Amino acid sequence: MALLWMVFGGLIVAALGLALYDYFQPRHTVLRNFPLIGRGRYLLEELGVYLRQYLYLNDREEMPFNRMTRSRVYRAAKALPDVVGFGSQHDLQRAGAIVLVNAPFAVLEEERQKPPPMVIGPGCARPMAPAHIFNISAMSFGALSGAAIRALSSGAAQAGIWLNTGEGGLSPHHLHGGAELIFQIGTAKYGVRDERGQLDPQRIKQLAQTVRAFEIKLSQGAKPGKGGILPAAKVTAEIAAIRGIPQGQSSISPNRHEDIANVDELLDMINRVRDVGGLPVGCKLVLSEDHFLFELAEAIHRRGLASAPDFMTIDGGDGGTGAAPEALADYVGLPLLGALPMAVNALMVSGLKERIRLIASGKLVTSERVAWAIAMGADFAQSARGFMFALGCIQSLRCHTDRCPTGVTTHNRHRQRGLVEEDKARRVANYATHINQELDMLAHSCGLRHAREFRREHICHIQLTGRSLSMAELWPYPPAVYPAAPDQAPEGSEPRPRLRSGS
Ligand SMILES: Cc1cc2nc3c(=O)[nH]c(=O)nc-3n(C[C@H](O)[C@H](O)[C@H](O)COP(=O)(O)O)c2cc1C
Repeated sequence: MALLWMVFGGLIVAALGLALYDYFQPRHTVLRNFPLIGRGRYLLEELGVYLRQYLYLNDREEMPFNRMTRSRVYRAAKALPDVVGFGSQHDLQRAGAIVLVNAPFAVLEEERQKPPPMVIGPGCARPMAPAHIFNISAMSFGALSGAAIRALSSGAAQAGIWLNTGEGGLSPHHLHGGAELIFQIGTAKYGVRDERGQLDPQRIKQLAQTVRAFEIKLSQGAKPGKGGILPAAKVTAEIAAIRGIPQGQSSISPNRHEDIANVDELLDMINRVRDVGGLPVGCKLVLSEDHFLFELAEAIHRRGLASAPDFMTIDGGDGGTGAAPEALADYVGLPLLGALPMAVNALMVSGLKERIRLIASGKLVTSERVAWAIAMGADFAQSARGFMFALGCIQSLRCHTDRCPTGVTTHNRHRQRGLVEEDKARRVANYATHINQELDMLAHSCGLRHAREFRREHICHIQLTGRSLSMAELWPYPPAVYPAAPDQAPEGSEPRPRLRSGS
């Protein structure tokens, strides 16, 4: 009994002490005015995120991905049946809904065909011919844990899809499973820079023995005009060694490549890397207007089609990140919905659509979204966060804190314990295979033999009035100003008329 009183007394003294501290502390207005009681507000604010996620928000409300979408990915990753009873809970009549146009006579499963392989960089010494449409987007070792990257690498190899290294260089974790790798050259050039921070051709040559393509990152959707940000808490000794930076200090990449300030310098860099490595080279960017693409097209036609990037990754402004300033994440860069058709049309007008393969990313985590992207003109699609869900991510929005509860984005060994690599690798492979197969299922329903036959007329957009508008009407295919470029790019083309936005 005496012990109980002592504990009770101790608690009262602690509460009084805390109240006194709150009363005199200078930083929090609410605590100065309402000592102790005011703490309830901060507690509820903290818990509110979880209460809303688990209890109050309905299945289709959350951002960036609602519970319905996450559940679909989780089910695909676990290879659970994806059938629903009674009917759709998706509001197909909502303005803005995207609906695939079914054919009166679907294609029989027996009539289905494997899509023809699509080659990236046919003019390179070693072109790339990815086996599937849906692949894994860039996420660096640093943003993700080593365990997560190992599971992605093994899963990608099992599913036969590519894995993009992200801008943090190549780590042993990427090589773990033997997947096809696209090496990303970020603005800090981690993994390919010399002592002065310049591109090191020797490193490109070495890497070209291991990876299948290079991607020069100009920008990513979540933070256009800002380089990679790896907070100090996540810069471990291993990451510091791979990136060539001091351990325990934030790794902030420049907000632009120092040596790429215009389209000509971009083409110079692309051609330098391609000449040294012999592999396809592309660039990744966020697109909010098409002027840049027309300028680039002019430069390409001036230099010759061989100088063009072999692929271009268009990342939606609503893309994901390990860490980004909120203002950039929320307000800069067009979402893929507008950016992708804009890019496709600009390349068609310029006669470059066949020469430059388009990879689309930005919330393409379910098959109908990927079908939309292919229908609009993308050649490949990729996802980062979809694969994070496959790894067990629960969207706790803490990637930047090193306190990820599922081990996906933390370097804390205890938290990585829950991420069992073999199991998660299988889930990564299941998810990729599910999307690639479901894409074909959707295509058959639309009367197509495979997903590469999707065109804009196979997708419609529900208007406010309930009328549906074909994507071919909303985003008409443009007339080509230049003749379509052949896959095999000839040297030095004739001077052409100036291209203009919207031509
Ligand atoms: C944890 C994380 C790390 C990322 N790291 C990179 C990176 O290193 N380089 C890059 O270009 N994009 C990076 N991204 C962006 C993704 O590659 C992708 O473009 C974007 O998230 C859109 O795809 P999603 O909506 O499927 O996630 C990262 C995204 C996430 C979530």
